[in-house]
Amino acid sequence: MSSIVLFGPPGAGKGTQAERIMVETGLPQVSTGDMLRASVKAGTETGMIAKGFMESGQLVPDSVIIDLIKERILEPDAKNGVMFDGFPRTIPQAEALAEITAVTHVIAIEVPDGKIVERICGRFSCGVCSRVFHDLFNPVGPDGCPCGTLEEKRRADDNESTVMSRLNTYHEQTSPLADWYRSKGIFHSVDGDRAIDKITGDILIALKK
Ligand code: AP5
Ligand code: MG
Repeated sequence: MSSIVLFGPPGAGKGTQAERIMVETGLPQVSTGDMLRASVKAGTETGMIAKGFMESGQLVPDSVIIDLIKERILEPDAKNGVMFDGFPRTIPQAEALAEITAVTHVIAIEVPDGKIVERICGRFSCGVCSRVFHDLFNPVGPDGCPCGTLEEKRRADDNESTVMSRLNTYHEQTSPLADWYRSKGIFHSVDGDRAIDKITGDILIALKK
């Protein structure tokens, strides 16, 4: 079993690219952000712990995240590996991951800080199929959402002040992981400030290296 990691700041396009790469590789997307939002919505103990950290743009404690991943990786769809989106975000998380599955590629989607706020503040998703859209950069087409129903949803942490805090958290606590993975020779950087299709193409090329 071997897995890949999509890495990058908030709003870099990890979720957007995961939807596409999933189709190409067959690996299921495992987004810790999506899992935590589901836990908050369901009112579980994990959700109650995570809620305050998420609303203030802080990282949820490593022990909570690692437990979630250990459980998720046991699901039958993960038997051939998964595509992590937004995990790991700290070196202890990466060390725990190395005990669980081999990581073959870490794909970093690079987007300048100046582009992040507009990306996040215009984001919405379909509440039925979870596809991610943007008011300006990735609007719903004339035929509506491909799932046939569009239930527009916006995230509680998608506001300007939380975005700035998430970005600081990324630079302080998550970006050091890039060097950690670089030293292992599995880190690939992709320019994320371009058309969505071009980025997908570059990720697929990087995955063949
Ligand atoms: P999480 O849900 O992972 O949020 P994030 O990392 O902040 O990333 P986003 O989901 O906001 O952005 P994305 O890169 O997926 O971009 P998207 O494709 O949507 O985490 C949320 C919170 O949970 C964290 O703050 C933390 O509290 C907690 N958490 C999660 N994981 C954790 C962990 N491992 N450890 C501890 N805590 C954890 O794209 C954004 C927008 O841009 C969309 O509207 C999209 O349509 C648009 N777009 C995408 N690509 C392009 C493009 N090329 N050009 C123009 N627009 C584009
Ligand atoms: Mg995301």
